[in-house]
Amino acid sequence: KNDPLVLFMPSGKRGRFPVGTPILDAARSLGVYVESVCGGRATCGRCQVSVQEGNFAKHKIVSSNDHISPIGPKEQRYASVRELPDGRRLSCSSQILGDLVIDVPQDTVINAQVVRKAATDRVIERNAAVQLCYVEVDEPDMHKPLGDLDRMKAVLEKDWGWKDLLIAPHLIPQVQGILRKGNWAVTAAIHRDMDSSRPFIVGLWPGLKNEAYGIACDIGSTTIAMHLVSLLSGRIVASSGASNPQIRFGEDLMSRVSYVMMNPDGREAMTKAVREAVNGLIGKVCTEGEIDRHDILDMVIVGNPIMHHLFLGIDPTELGQAPFALAVSGALQYWAHEIDIEVNRGARLYMLPCIAGHVGADAAGATLSEGPHRQDKMMLLVDVGTNAEIVLGNRQRVVAASSPTGPAFEGAEISSGQRAAPGAIERVRIDPETLEPRFRVIGVEKWSDEEGFAEAAASVGVTGICGSAIIEVVAEMYLTGIISQDGVVDGAMAAKSPRIVPNGRTFSYLLHEGDQRITVTQNDIRAIQLAKAALYAGIKLLMEKQGVDHVDTIRFAGAFGSFIDPKYAMVLGLIPDCDLNEVKAVGNAAGTGALMALLNRGHRREIEETVRKIEKIETALESKFQEHFVNAMAMPNKVDAFPKLAE
Ligand code: FES
Repeated sequence: KNDPLVLFMPSGKRGRFPVGTPILDAARSLGVYVESVCGGRATCGRCQVSVQEGNFAKHKIVSSNDHISPIGPKEQRYASVRELPDGRRLSCSSQILGDLVIDVPQDTVINAQVVRKAATDRVIERNAAVQLCYVEVDEPDMHKPLGDLDRMKAVLEKDWGWKDLLIAPHLIPQVQGILRKGNWAVTAAIHRDMDSSRPFIVGLWPGLKNEAYGIACDIGSTTIAMHLVSLLSGRIVASSGASNPQIRFGEDLMSRVSYVMMNPDGREAMTKAVREAVNGLIGKVCTEGEIDRHDILDMVIVGNPIMHHLFLGIDPTELGQAPFALAVSGALQYWAHEIDIEVNRGARLYMLPCIAGHVGADAAGATLSEGPHRQDKMMLLVDVGTNAEIVLGNRQRVVAASSPTGPAFEGAEISSGQRAAPGAIERVRIDPETLEPRFRVIGVEKWSDEEGFAEAAASVGVTGICGSAIIEVVAEMYLTGIISQDGVVDGAMAAKSPRIVPNGRTFSYLLHEGDQRITVTQNDIRAIQLAKAALYAGIKLLMEKQGVDHVDTIRFAGAFGSFIDPKYAMVLGLIPDCDLNEVKAVGNAAGTGALMALLNRGHRREIEETVRKIEKIETALESKFQEHFVNAMAMPNKVDAFPKLAE
């Protein structure tokens, strides 16, 4: 009872241990994940921890550096060869002498560099599927004719507790050579998240192998985003993106499905294209991180249902028509080489589950990242693309749906619309008195009414409006009375401002007159109204399913969400009324979810279980959808109040 109390951070796990217990053993027995490759020989340095000093009254612990054994010869030797940062200790070689608060460094901090405008810094606790285990194998003995592999398995069980080990067949012929090359010392990579639930030897190296990497990848219809991560420290080594080469088969998802339907080898061509792109991107992050791609041992992939199917070589035709049947919805595991991914021959690949026919593994990734199911607040999670994926829920219950927003939010179907690229207008303000606009252009550091704008803009030009500016300009037009609540441009305004120009039987707003004439037409406004009404109607359906009339917090995932201003989204009624401080853009949350599943296999079980429980709503089948849609055409809405917006 009077044994010292040890608290591990950031997990908060604690327990009492007899004086003299190695810190690593204490961590292990509490299920705190501390990396170790050398098995406590003080050579790998992976087990580093630090002591937090002070009086932790809340936990009734006074922790001090005197409560840990002083640096001994093993640590000294390690420090002299490999250097041990100040305050760090090797947990395998230091013992508990008194009460301690131990900090287990988690190098994966998802912050602003990874996630644009991240809500908060976030730490992903590590518990990777792959573990490196160094062992010293008995030399062959004529009196005990046990095979090399069998003796290696025996010591892996003895030193590391691995029972019932399986081995990847391609390694079997290599065991002999690797053991001798390493002079009977080898490092085995053990994968412990296989379908069979038996641990699996997936890699083998002579001597001490002290690094292994993983890939987290989000395959979007437009962009493929990737992180290269150290599985041992959790450090993000490199992050990069590339455009999805499937674009040449069709801009949006449905045109890619029709390409498959029209062309006998269409599916195969698109599968090949996306796999090549993923391989290319792996090459890029490896060059950037200066690592060998064969040191990659684990991968996690997310993507919308059509990207998911095409990547796996599954025909997506069924997803193009009701009942939008997924060929497979559960999580999947592969050997990476089975789907032509060039990494280590023993590398595994895990695909997150899909939620429904239009709500894919990317939405599952975003759900894992933002965690509506982990909290009491009613959270709305929206990923806007050609299809909006919508998740709404809390700890009690989560529901999901997709809504056919169409490509208007991405600048398509808009007369002067374009992708977010240099030259695109990204921000717009309209003076309520004069109705004169001011705007910002991507690639130009000034607002259009600032001195020197014309010179600064000369190099990129002003070429069109991107998605974020479409939202802003329509919202500003509404706020200044240029358009009515129903979205009609008021022709009478033409007398007040030369910016209101006739266009056939309707009127347009002249935003910019330069090399290109950029106007917002009545049709543009209609397209935005249709898109936002579809999104809102989908959200409204989910709110009804949940029996709530407001949401507590809103998360915008995806590129679109990173650029739009929540205030304008609410002015237009894209999203329901909510405290503006609770509306946040979370960047590529799907990719963050993939990263979490890569670094912690517990998150794989968490999302598998969550997705099983999520109630899927098919908007096309809901009779109320049409009614919500019609009401949502008005700005912000015909029937729903927006009290928080008024504040
Ligand atoms: Fe390798 Fe401690 S476990 S140095």
